[in-house]
Amino acid sequence: MAPARHSPGAPNALSRLSGNHGVSAPGATVATRVEMSFMGREIRTIDPSNRDVAWQVFATAFADDPVMRWVIADPRRDGSAFEGLDLALHGAPDSGELLYDGDVAVGAAQWDPPGHEPPPSESMRSLPIFARALRGRLPRGIALAVSTARRRPKEPHWYLATIGAVSQGQGIGTTLLRHRLDEIEGPAYLESSNIANNPLYERFGFKVTGEIHLPMGGPTL
Ligand SMILES: CC(C)(COP(=O)(O)OP(=O)(O)OC[C@H]1O[C@@H](n2cnc3c(N)ncnc32)[C@H](O)[C@@H]1OP(=O)(O)O)[C@@H](O)C(=O)NCCC(=O)NCCS
Repeated sequence: MAPARHSPGAPNALSRLSGNHGVSAPGATVATRVEMSFMGREIRTIDPSNRDVAWQVFATAFADDPVMRWVIADPRRDGSAFEGLDLALHGAPDSGELLYDGDVAVGAAQWDPPGHEPPPSESMRSLPIFARALRGRLPRGIALAVSTARRRPKEPHWYLATIGAVSQGQGIGTTLLRHRLDEIEGPAYLESSNIANNPLYERFGFKVTGEIHLPMGGPTL
C-alpha cells in the first residue's frame, strides 16, 4: 500500500499471539517507561535500553514478508537489517512502542515524526551493519529505498516505518496502531509490504493512494 493518510478521530479516513512466540527481554525492560497496561499486555516506549528487542520482534514478524525476503537473502540477517534501518533512518525519541504480554515482547511499531532527520553520526554507524545484512543484494536495498522515498508525501506527516507482531491475528497490530493514532495529529503515511495488511490499515482510516512497483522483478508495495 502506498501513500496513506490518517485523520485522528475519523475512523473512515486511510495504511497474532499463541504458543511461546515472542522476544523475552529480561533486564531490558527495567528502565522502560510503561505507557499503558491492560489484560496482561503493556505498551512500553522504545528507547536505547530496549531497541534491540524491537529489532528482534521485527525480524520475527517479517520472516515471511515478501519485500523482506526480496531484499535480504538470509532471514538470520533480518535483525541486522532492522538495526541498520533504525540507525540510518528512524529512532526518533518517543516515536516507537513495544507491546509486552507479561515479560514477552510480542509486537513493536516504529514511527518517524513529521520532519524527522536522523543524526548523521547514526547513519554512518549503520553502513557496516547494512553491508552485513544485505551482502550481494545491496542494489535491491538501494532500489527499495529510492522507490519508496520518491513516493513519500511532500507535506509533513507521521510515517509508520515498521510494525510487526510475532504472532499474527491476535490484535497486536490493532493495539499498537490505536495507541499511536489516538495520540497524533495531522496526516500519516505508510507503505504496506503485504496486501493482507491493507484491511487493518483501512480500518484505521488509511486509504490506498498508489502502488510502488519495485524494479528487478521485485514485489509491489
Ligand atoms: C501486519 C501486522 C503488524 C498486523 O498485526 P496483527 O496483530 O496480525 O493484526 P490484528 O490481529 O490486530 O488485526 C488483524 C488484521 O491484520 C491483518 N493481517 C495481516 N496478516 C495477518 C495474518 N497472518 N493473520 C491475521 N491477520 C493478518 C489483516 O488485515 C487482519 O484483518 P482482518 O482480520 O480483517 O483480515 C502483523 O500481521 C505482522 O506483523 N505481519 C508481518 C509483518 C508485516 O507485514 N508488517 C507490516 C508491513 S506493512
